Amino acid sequence: MERTFSTSRTDSWWVETLVSASVFVLAIIYSIVRALEGKFFQWGPYLSPLYPFPIETAWISPAMFTMWVPAGFRITCYFCRRVYYRSVFADPPACMVREPKRNYKGESAFPYILLNLHRYFLFFAILFVPIHWFHAIKSFIWEGSFGMGLGSILILADSVFLTLYVLSCHSFRHLSGGRIDNYSQNNARYKIWKFVSSLNKNHGFFFWVSLISVIVADLYIRLLSSGTINEIRIF
Ligand code: FES
Repeated sequence: MERTFSTSRTDSWWVETLVSASVFVLAIIYSIVRALEGKFFQWGPYLSPLYPFPIETAWISPAMFTMWVPAGFRITCYFCRRVYYRSVFADPPACMVREPKRNYKGESAFPYILLNLHRYFLFFAILFVPIHWFHAIKSFIWEGSFGMGLGSILILADSVFLTLYVLSCHSFRHLSGGRIDNYSQNNARYKIWKFVSSLNKNHGFFFWVSLISVIVADLYIRLLSSGTINEIRIF
């Protein structure tokens, strides 16, 4: 009988799985720790993307009110499923690599059926995009005039990558062009669908860069806010 991880592949198939698992698990741990920390999320014109609503509360971190949106959106994301099915559950660890024996019933059984909530998380994620852009624009306003620091660039990058991640979503693609029998009768939707489809090809890339950019921006603001480093002001 073939054993788990047995394969006829001769390439280093495990590298992608290992790197994905490491980055994914570290990102989850970092986000949870930061969300629970409840401080060091604001500095000058900067607001951490993990804290889009900096509500003052003495009893709970403000990130806890909103964290369920990016967490739910990402965990149910089709690409993210591939990442954790392979890297965390080894189910399978890679193409043509033997997985552990399991009684898998597809995504129609609990808890996998909850992944179908992705289309609803998408609506909340869409609402978050303009909020991130609002904070990105604010990061360029220093005491009433235009300015720019390294933080402005990191927050702007986070907004750009989040936008591309949401626009390239498979559910958004369906929303833009699904349920139409004849595109010639709806040219506008056909153009939107084509645009979204072109982004969708790189959805995996946008998943990773948007995940990393939100952490880099938050970490930079945390270090500034806690007095660990000084801001790199560009002008
Ligand atoms: Fe990845 Fe929707 S499929 S965000």
